[in-house]
Amino acid sequence: MKTAKVWRLGMGDMQILSGSRSRPPLKKPMWIIILVLFVCVFLICAYIYPPQSSSACYVFSSKGCKGFVDSFLPIPKREFTDEEIASHVVIDHILKTSHNLPKNPKIAFMFLSPGSLPFEKLWDKFFQGHEGKFSVYVHASKTKPVHVSRYFVNRDIRSDQVVWGKISMVDAERRLLANALQDPDNEHFVLLSESCVPLYNFDYIYNYLMYTNISFVDCFKDPGPHGNGRYSEHMLPEVEMKDFRKGAQWFSVKRQHAVIIMADNLYYSKFHTYCQPGVEGRNCIADEHYLPTFFNIIDPRGIANWSITHVDWSERKWHPKSYRAHDVTYELLKNITSIDVSVHVTSDEKREVQRWPCLWNGIQKPCYLFARKFTPETLDNLLHLFANYSSP
Ligand SMILES: *[C@@H]1O[C@H](CO)[C@@H](O)[C@H](O)[C@H]1NC(C)=O
Ligand SMILES: *[C@@H]1O[C@H](CO)[C@@H](O)[C@H](O)[C@H]1NC(C)=O
Ligand SMILES: *[C@@H]1O[C@H](CO)[C@@H](O)[C@H](O)[C@H]1NC(C)=O
Ligand SMILES: *[C@@H]1O[C@H](CO)[C@@H](O)[C@H](O)[C@H]1NC(C)=O
Repeated sequence: MKTAKVWRLGMGDMQILSGSRSRPPLKKPMWIIILVLFVCVFLICAYIYPPQSSSACYVFSSKGCKGFVDSFLPIPKREFTDEEIASHVVIDHILKTSHNLPKNPKIAFMFLSPGSLPFEKLWDKFFQGHEGKFSVYVHASKTKPVHVSRYFVNRDIRSDQVVWGKISMVDAERRLLANALQDPDNEHFVLLSESCVPLYNFDYIYNYLMYTNISFVDCFKDPGPHGNGRYSEHMLPEVEMKDFRKGAQWFSVKRQHAVIIMADNLYYSKFHTYCQPGVEGRNCIADEHYLPTFFNIIDPRGIANWSITHVDWSERKWHPKSYRAHDVTYELLKNITSIDVSVHVTSDEKREVQRWPCLWNGIQKPCYLFARKFTPETLDNLLHLFANYSSP
């Protein structure tokens, strides 16, 4: 008896489920439940198998795939590694701690050179009368320099070999920063090469650098072979391709930025290991990618994105133009100082030209305070012209 009743109840259930045979009219709530279930299954499928063709995306949203995915299911942010969290708190702390300006803030001029500096006489003219507002550091990587200017005597720091493109170049930059940071009056730190010359008199350069809170670090996104082409996935998870940047090495940084360069070990070690030009898969150039990428991740709004040192790449050769004696005229120098838009060209086949006005505290100003590459034979012309070209 009992079993038969159970069986009949079961039959009753079956009748509802296989209702299509006898077609009893479905009640309204049932339609809604089926509809909701259908939509849920559809959405779950759409999440697990995102539509590949863009036309499929427009079925969901007028904004296309991206808009659809963003508005319903935000892509979770990557979980930071322990090293990243530790590194970010230290760096944030340094950036947020305001320090009192010293009474006599100075600019540190840091020269990175193989040996003697061919333009010491010009720099001597530049520095004269501004004692107490600058300090000089020389890192000579090959031979001990012979100094002709009193401002350079005894200013050599302990140095080491430098190989272009390798991390030893960054090591030399860090060595200069570490030495210059020892003087608490140094507020701004400028990296220069032996072929660099000043484009303005001391006061103009001092005010330009001192009365702004940003650092001048060259930084742009190059999707081509000389940009992202040098990225290595071994740098993951901390350095993602989307954060990889390129820029000329000739930086000028505020004190707090100099300190975070000293504090960084995490990003530095990535570039230390994976920038070894000539080694398969590690073909990145440390001095062109480490600092631009580091600042882009850590403090993108703290940098100007252009370098204050001009160089002429217009000949599109492997090396920039080197000026000879006959090139150096009043007109050339005025041409360089009249530039107030920074230009970057990508290295892919599109050769996209990125132009940004050089904004100094929101005002468009000349981009460049220094220029390279000048050959030693240009010294006499520069000395002769300096007083004339260097006034703004
Ligand atoms: C730089 O930062 C300091 C402290 O945050 C601020 O007082 C000053 O106005 C800033 N200067 C410029 C030129 O933005
Ligand atoms: C430099 O570029 C970054 C983005 O790449 C931007 O956030 C930042 O504001 C730029 N710096 C200046 C001073 O405009
Ligand atoms: C200076 O700039 C002008 C205009 O761009 C150009 O025609 C001229 O050749 C430049 N002169 C020098 C010496 O670079
Ligand atoms: C010096 O500058 C003046 C304009 O200020 C110019 O007329 C003169 O030719 C310049 N002298 C030289 C040597 O270039």
